[in-house]
Amino acid sequence: MRSILFVALASALFVSSFTLAMSPGHAPLPPEFSAIAEENPHPFLPIAGVLKHPRCMNCHVSGESPRQGDLSKIHSPPVKRGPDGRGQGMKCTSCHRVKNGPVIPGAPDWHLAPLSMAWEGLNESDLCRTLTDQTKNGGRSPEALADHMLNDALVGWAWNPGGKRTPVPVSKEEFGVLLQSWIAAGAPCP
Ligand code: HEC
Ligand code: HEC
Repeated sequence: MRSILFVALASALFVSSFTLAMSPGHAPLPPEFSAIAEENPHPFLPIAGVLKHPRCMNCHVSGESPRQGDLSKIHSPPVKRGPDGRGQGMKCTSCHRVKNGPVIPGAPDWHLAPLSMAWEGLNESDLCRTLTDQTKNGGRSPEALADHMLNDALVGWAWNPGGKRTPVPVSKEEFGVLLQSWIAAGAPCP
């Protein structure tokens, strides 16, 4: 039993390093490997699954307005990001308090992510490149990105969004493990 487990683990490790080593210039995988590779996706893909969730995406928008709800509709009432993401005219925090209210979600210093951190419309590969580009991400190393994603109050809100909003689908602990294995692999982009 132990040895079976060991072989399974060893081959999983082998395959994941194999998947990482793949790049567009390489020969296509033999069929038995491509089947296994599908079960062992690139380590950024499950992370992208979290980042693309509406709880994150509704603030990481590329337009002037935040978005709302699981369908990411344009914010109602109409509001604009303003010069610092905190609102044009009326401030975000005049409605969004430090905690969720019965209708309005809340967390400390509620505001939009800057345009350089907009992820809307990006595929997984471009999302990863934008995220890790230190000229766009606030000068953060991969470790600092992980720290932000596990400890920031606005990010944390996505696990406790209040009302009928769907929380992010993986637990904070699982997300931490995913980030750790991505960083251990050298924070590669697909
Ligand atoms: C209420 C709005 C809001 C929500 C919700 C939100 N963010 Fe952000 N996010 C921001 C703001 C504002 C910044 C800029 C913070 C800074 O650099 O000081 C930011 C920055 C980041 C950064 C820094 C680097 C970069 O390039 O974006 C990461 C990573 C990030 N957010 C991840 C997430 C994840 C993951 C979620 C969902 C689980 C999420 N955010 C949800 C507003 C939000
Ligand atoms: C006049 C009040 C008001 C102002 C000002 C306001 N909001 Fe909202 N916001 C709301 C209400 C109400 C909701 C909840 C709608 C619902 O869930 O039915 C909401 C929801 C949101 C959501 C949706 C969260 C989700 O994932 O469903 C985001 C993101 C958001 N606001 C960002 C902002 C930002 C950023 C600003 C400032 C630029 C801002 N809001 C200014 C009232 C306001």
